[in-house]
Amino acid sequence: MSSSNLAVTAEGLRKRYGDKYALDGFDLTVPKGTVCGLLGPNGAGKTTAVRILATLLRFDEGRAVVAGHDVGREPAEVRHRIGLVGQNAAVDEVLSGYQNLVMFGRLYHLGAREAKARATAMLQQFRLTDTGSKPVKAYSGGMRRRLDLAASMILAPTVLFLDEPTVGLDPRSRNEVWQSVRDLVGAGTTVLLTTQYLDEADQLASQINVIDTGRVIAEGSPSQLKSLIGGDRIEFVVHDTAQLDAAARATARMGTTEPVVDTDRRQVSVQVSDKATALPEAVRLLDEAGIAIDDLALRRPTLDEVFLHLTGQHAERDEDSGQAKTGQEVSA
Ligand SMILES: Nc1ncnc2c1ncn2[C@@H]1O[C@H](COP(=O)(O)OP(=O)(O)OP(=O)(O)O)[C@@H](O)[C@H]1O
Ligand SMILES: [Mg+2]
Repeated sequence: MSSSNLAVTAEGLRKRYGDKYALDGFDLTVPKGTVCGLLGPNGAGKTTAVRILATLLRFDEGRAVVAGHDVGREPAEVRHRIGLVGQNAAVDEVLSGYQNLVMFGRLYHLGAREAKARATAMLQQFRLTDTGSKPVKAYSGGMRRRLDLAASMILAPTVLFLDEPTVGLDPRSRNEVWQSVRDLVGAGTTVLLTTQYLDEADQLASQINVIDTGRVIAEGSPSQLKSLIGGDRIEFVVHDTAQLDAAARATARMGTTEPVVDTDRRQVSVQVSDKATALPEAVRLLDEAGIAIDDLALRRPTLDEVFLHLTGQHAERDEDSGQAKTGQEVSA
């Protein structure tokens, strides 16, 4: 892809704290008008990468270009073209949503009249018009995050960085934020989003970069990443354990690899290439072989399985403890 189609490029970025590298050869390309998900466990380097690309943090080695400008040499040019929503909210609790947005506009050197016009437009875009005059402390978590997004969009940035935008939000608020992000991208903004939530990356990102210990260890669309660990599978449970082997033999020829038999669960798993025909095909083969089944399903690997496979740990944060789950909780 030619560089003019790219909103963000990073090549070999390194950032050292003491003798430890927070980024250790970080590469990234984000095409214009897309959402790129940067997915990684605690301490992987996500925030470091975002802060460097947003010119808030110096890097030691490598090169990055954001919105057509070199991050190291032209930080002011970059800054004019980006927005950032950090891990911690930046809005004032006592002020109303509208007052916050006007204040941000003024901070960005807009005139009073323009700051007010932008504030009104942003409240509308982020569906906050009704609550715009209330103090922020009365807002729900989802409304606050949307106000954060609105504040970061005051200058209509070309590239928007979102660092874990939905941490701690309930499902409904997360959906609201996701919808706002989709609206932005629909209007042409490029988004680089960090997350530990697989479903968030799955929902929003057309491209996912999995980051661990300061570098990208895998990249692709959500479905490409899922197929990394094998494609779709047909899984069925036979009624009678005595028929397990016969069931595996009967369905072997539709599989791309040998069927896997799990005796304890009376289950056979067959990896398939054509998911459209796989279910009826399995039903037919089992029927012909006279095998009764209790359950039959088409299963797609989840991004969490991909993540576990790649990093040896679950990505999704445990809501209650704020800790990343460990891989031990999963049976192999
Ligand atoms: N100011 C700092 N001084 C020393 N070490 C730091 C500093 N900031 C980050 N680090 C280290 O750099 C590594 C990457 O941190 P970073 O915050 O980028 O990770 P992250 O992927 O954003 O994690 P999280 O999911 O917890 O937000 C971690 O090992 C962290 O301890
Ligand atoms: Mg972080």
